[in-house]
Amino acid sequence: MASDALVTRGLTRRYGGRVAIDSLDLQVKEGDVYGFLGPNGAGKTTAIRCMLGLIRRDGGEVEIFGERDPVRQRASVGAMVETPAFHTWLSARDNLRRACAFAGVGDESDIQQALDRVGLQGRAEEKVSGYSLGMRQRLGIARALVGRPRLLILDEPTNGLDPRGMREVRDLLLDLRRRDGLTILVSSHLLSEVEQLCSRVGILERGRMVAEGSVDELLDRAQTSVVEVDVETHDTAGLARALASIPGASPAGEGEGERLRLRLNGIGPAELNRALVNAGVPVEALIPVTHSLEELFLRLTTRELT
Ligand SMILES: Nc1ncnc2c1ncn2[C@@H]1O[C@H](COP(=O)(O)OP(=O)(O)O)[C@@H](O)[C@H]1O
Ligand SMILES: [Mg+2]
Repeated sequence: MASDALVTRGLTRRYGGRVAIDSLDLQVKEGDVYGFLGPNGAGKTTAIRCMLGLIRRDGGEVEIFGERDPVRQRASVGAMVETPAFHTWLSARDNLRRACAFAGVGDESDIQQALDRVGLQGRAEEKVSGYSLGMRQRLGIARALVGRPRLLILDEPTNGLDPRGMREVRDLLLDLRRRDGLTILVSSHLLSEVEQLCSRVGILERGRMVAEGSVDELLDRAQTSVVEVDVETHDTAGLARALASIPGASPAGEGEGERLRLRLNGIGPAELNRALVNAGVPVEALIPVTHSLEELFLRLTTRELT
């Protein structure tokens, strides 16, 4: 059983009268690539700043590898919050030197290793002003790595990147996990990003954790929470008549041509098929509707538009 890398309990932060983070309980286990998912404005950056002690919290506690003291926590964490800022007139290497001096961690060999890890070793003497956004993101990750942390916290590291850049960051994080055994928390507002990268996911909505678990657990939850099937038949009138006498099956929305979507409650697709055939409905196809994590995510995070 993996031990806890990062735990928050009841983490709360207000801005004026507004609650930005509401009693947040979060658990990252050692070795996880944890996806901290939520739409824009959900509170991801605020939560991460609280975890890192960059802003005051109004309640709750943060434990990192069992450590509660913020100063001692810092030694095991590397972070990149929002878009990283650099001295653009300096080289990448000199930026890392400054960061090390400022933080009082890391030496020349740590800097070289961090540059190697993110694939910037060949461009390290170039000024950051000539760097693309993707290279800056990678340099930001390098800066988070120089103190040789065990836990890496990255706030939307793929934000603004094109699909290729996103892919490179994803591959880099998986590599850090595999080669260096790092535990990683990565926030994103894009489910597709997190789904391809993370072992566990927490979904944040308006400062509250609305679901947390392994990607498989959440998928199971998405599958079992609503069961729907599409039925195809040329006798749609007969289908509608038969449905009236089949408890547990009801139309879910308007049909389309010879296809009708049904919601099942308490009966399975096989039972439905039997009942329809017994009622004389010529069923041409019965297709279970699979629910993706995307749908669960949207369902949990859909707000009223005002
Ligand atoms: N410095 C601040 N002052 C006031 N409100 C803020 C501040 N920072 C963030 N907020 C508010 O807190 C909420 C969460 O924001 P944020 O943590 O940036 O969300 P996310 O990172 O998920 O997009 C938003 O409603 C935002 O407007
Ligand atoms: Mg943010």
